[in-house]
Amino acid sequence: MDSIKIKYSELISDLKKFLKQQNEITNVDFYFSKINTNEVKIKNNTQKKIFNENWKNAKSLNELNTLICDCIKCSLSKTRKKFVFGVGNENADIMFIGEAPGADEDEQGEPFVGRAGQLLNKIFEAIQFKREEIYICNILKCRPPNNRDPQLSEVELCIPYLWKQIEIIKPKILVSLGRIGAQMLLNTSDSLTKLREKIHTYKDIPLIVTYHPAALLRNPNWKIPTWEDMKKLRSLYSEIKLKND
Ligand code: URA
Repeated sequence: MDSIKIKYSELISDLKKFLKQQNEITNVDFYFSKINTNEVKIKNNTQKKIFNENWKNAKSLNELNTLICDCIKCSLSKTRKKFVFGVGNENADIMFIGEAPGADEDEQGEPFVGRAGQLLNKIFEAIQFKREEIYICNILKCRPPNNRDPQLSEVELCIPYLWKQIEIIKPKILVSLGRIGAQMLLNTSDSLTKLREKIHTYKDIPLIVTYHPAALLRNPNWKIPTWEDMKKLRSLYSEIKLKND
């Protein structure tokens, strides 16, 4: 049999990556210890806290929050200060979905309380929505260190919580702040420009996509198209209200 030459350091590095992924998926800690230069020992610790899946049966947002707030499914649980579940009325008509908590949200345990949140409040005021009509949450419930982009593995582990929040709230309209929420809910890789072109549906709920307020802070020129999206939201909301009242 031909032998394959692999550098020891590369092999170890790949193995470490694999074990890290396994840890994220299974929540089992893998201890990696080098005994001597030719031997590597991998131990796993199945004693680790088991995160149970009872949350899937939650009937209210409070119950859901209680069941998931100690989530340890991914490594963000090790660096977060607070779990950021979401805020607003359980019977909200409109659900705004951001990406992930930033530093202020991580400190306070509430979504959109920093600069982007202040801009979001102004947007609500401009389209005359009361906070009670709205629920706000994120795809990721924990802050990625240094506000780096969410990783796909983190989104995949966390998004079932968002699906459950939508199932409990049953909003009449979903609004994705930025492309990530829409891409994940619609299972598409379309750009924000493309996503903004029409009103989509997620499980029969209309879904509007607009710019993320943090993007508006970086590029104020996007406020005009955002205003167009918000007018679209306002008129869709009035239409739905008219039909249901
Ligand atoms: N950006 C987000 O996407 N969510 C927050 O909660 C804050 C900033």
